[in-house]
Amino acid sequence: MDPTTLLLRWAHILAAIVAMGGLFFARFGLLPALTEVDAATRDRIHEAIRRRWLPWVIGAITVLLASGLANFLIFNGRVKAEGWGDGAWMRQTSYHALFGAKFLLALVVFYFASALVGRGAGTQWIRNDRAKWLSVTLGLAVAVVLLSGWMRQLHTGPNMSGSGGGVLVEEIEVEKGEPRYRDSDAGSRFRESGDETPAAEPAAAPAQ
Ligand code: HEM
Repeated sequence: MDPTTLLLRWAHILAAIVAMGGLFFARFGLLPALTEVDAATRDRIHEAIRRRWLPWVIGAITVLLASGLANFLIFNGRVKAEGWGDGAWMRQTSYHALFGAKFLLALVVFYFASALVGRGAGTQWIRNDRAKWLSVTLGLAVAVVLLSGWMRQLHTGPNMSGSGGGVLVEEIEVEKGEPRYRDSDAGSRFRESGDETPAAEPAAAPAQ
C-alpha cells in the first residue's frame, strides 16, 4: 500500500464530499426553507452563510485540484514506467479522454460553486436564479463522480472474494504468468474467461 496515494485519495474524496454535500444541502434543504421568510431576511441569511462557507468552497476546490492533478501524474507515471499496453494503455482504454472530460466538467462545477457564494457583479445572474444553477451544478458534479468511478474501474477491475475474502490480484498475476495490469486487455480477457466467481472447492472423487 502506497501511503502517498492513499493520502491523496482520502483528501480528494473528503473534499468532494464537503463540496457536494454543501451543494445538496443548499439545493434541497436551505433554499426551500428560505422561501418561508421575507426577502430582507433571506438576503441577510445568504450573506451570513456566504462569509462562512466561502473558505470551505475555496479550500475544497484547492484540495480537489491539487490531489486530482497529483493523482493523475503519479498514475500516468506508473502506466508509462510499467509499460501497460506497451505504453498506450491510457489511449486504448480512453482513460485520457475520460480524464479530460472530467477535468473540464470539474472546472465548470468550480466556477458555479464559487459564483453561488461569491458577490461579484459579473456572476450576479447565477445568484439571481439560485435554484436553477444549483441544480445544474449538482448535475454536473454527479457526472464528474460517475466519470471518476469509471476511470477507477478501468484499472482496478472487479473486486473478487476468494475463499478467505479479499481481492484476488495476487492469484490472477500468478495464474496468467504476467502482471495483470501491464496488458490493457487483461481485465476484459479475465472477465470473458468466466472466472468471475470464486472457484468452488473441487468435489471429492467418489470412492471406487
Ligand atoms: C467536482 C470536482 C471533483 C469531484 C466531485 C471528484 C470526485 C472524485 C471521486 C469521488 C474520485 C474517486 C473515484 C473512485 O475511487 O471510485 C475521484 C478520483 C480522481 N479524481 Fe476527482 N473529483 C473532482 C475533481 C477532480 C479534478 C479537478 C481532478 C484533476 C485535476 C481530478 C482527478 C482525479 C483522479 C486522477 C482520480 C483517480 C481516478 C482513478 O482512480 O483512476 N478530480 N474524483
